[in-house]
Amino acid sequence: MILPIYIYGQPVLRKVAQDIDAENYPNLKGLIENMYETMYHADGVGLAAPQIGLPERIFVVDLSPMASEEHPEFADFKKVFINAHITERNGDLELVEEGCLSIPGIHEKVPREGEVIIAYLDEELQPREERYSGFMARVIQHEYDHLDGILFTDRISPLRKRMVKNKLANMEKGKVACDYKIRTVR
Ligand code: NI
Repeated sequence: MILPIYIYGQPVLRKVAQDIDAENYPNLKGLIENMYETMYHADGVGLAAPQIGLPERIFVVDLSPMASEEHPEFADFKKVFINAHITERNGDLELVEEGCLSIPGIHEKVPREGEVIIAYLDEELQPREERYSGFMARVIQHEYDHLDGILFTDRISPLRKRMVKNKLANMEKGKVACDYKIRTVR
């Protein structure tokens, strides 16, 4: 089922999401399926639960649409991260352009560490702790930020913040155009 994506200004995007009781969570598989479907419908490569209105520490990523000769490893990078916690961030900050399904029409360069270690439960609810670097680390950090109520526009330079201020203010008022299903504040 395709769910509406919550847009900038929605309070849930600013909440610190909580771990779930994964064993007893009602229809967790269904929720994950819906998150993938919603993400694909919007042509995204990542989606976090707060973006569909749930303040819970779950996000999905699928980098396969970005697989290339240069990056064959993206082809099978499709994963759900449940009760995700980044335990370490390493490396110099790298500046790369990002966008977000909750902030349509804005793309800005965001500084992020080059490597992370993340602990989480996989879709079989098995605990894992893995190290990621490069673009994978970036996507994980972007989605993980959603679990802490942080949006990529919080991390851009003061100058760029001023440049996007009006667009963000309009989004908060529900003035936003995009071609997937969304839910604005008003
Ligand atoms: Ni996002």
